[in-house]
Amino acid sequence: MNDFEGKVILITGGAGGIGRETAQQFLDRGASVELWDMDKDAGDKLVKKWTDEGHKVHFEKVDVTDFEAVKKAMNNLQERWEQLDILVNNAGITRDATLKKMSPEEWKQVVDVNLNGVFYCGKAAAEVMREQESGVILNASSVVGVYGNFGQSNYVATKSGVIGLTKTWARELGRKGVRVNAVAPGFIETPMVDTVPDKVLEELKGQTPLGRLGKPEDIASAYVFLASEQAAFITGTVLQVDGGLVF
Ligand code: NAI
Repeated sequence: MNDFEGKVILITGGAGGIGRETAQQFLDRGASVELWDMDKDAGDKLVKKWTDEGHKVHFEKVDVTDFEAVKKAMNNLQERWEQLDILVNNAGITRDATLKKMSPEEWKQVVDVNLNGVFYCGKAAAEVMREQESGVILNASSVVGVYGNFGQSNYVATKSGVIGLTKTWARELGRKGVRVNAVAPGFIETPMVDTVPDKVLEELKGQTPLGRLGKPEDIASAYVFLASEQAAFITGTVLQVDGGLVF
């Protein structure tokens, strides 16, 4: 299916986990994709593989916590592709600890990537999309941003914050033809959950009505749907993709 032919998609944190699978699904549907990530080796390898397969794809090493770098990369993106149709604000990290043990440094690192990074990239993308009078911004939240989670004050605060940004930007940008939505994944099999003990993951599976953890494909499909024309009247919403873990 080539329903994204002629569309330009920017995916932050696009070199790993959910971001990489999201890039794959958009490429398979004919889109041009730009990846921003800190992991240059992984990014370069993906670009080589996908270019060899005939896809249109570019990688930039961008730290989303650096607003100047984000603005520069956005200018380069505009020169390269001349448009930006969809931003998937996906880069994120965890530094888990209980409130008692969490250091201010661990707090700030997570806020910097998961919240400041989303703000900086969203702000830069919105400038382009406002001018175009079209675009879609998709933000990575999490079910823990809705329900909280033991040992994740920093992460949960950012993922709740992302929901607030999503709803606010939907209001500010709707009249300019820009839709803004969030996806709230449950627990998904990527390097991010490597630090979660196996016992906890087994318990989570047991609590999930669909009886399994999520796969990156499950989340990528949600982004593709929300970016598509089928979602043309959906904005300001948070789509939970968690196998029914929490409702
Ligand atoms: P991951 O750890 O597999 O991939 C994250 C990517 O972000 C990596 O490629 C990393 O290099 C990049 N990144 C980290 N800091 C960056 C920075 N400062 N600038 C640019 N890139 C940076 O993570 P995963 O699992 O693919 O998660 C993607 C998003 O989905 C994150 O926002 C995460 O919080 C969210 N999410 C993931 C869940 C899961 O269970 N895996 C559950 C709920 C939400």
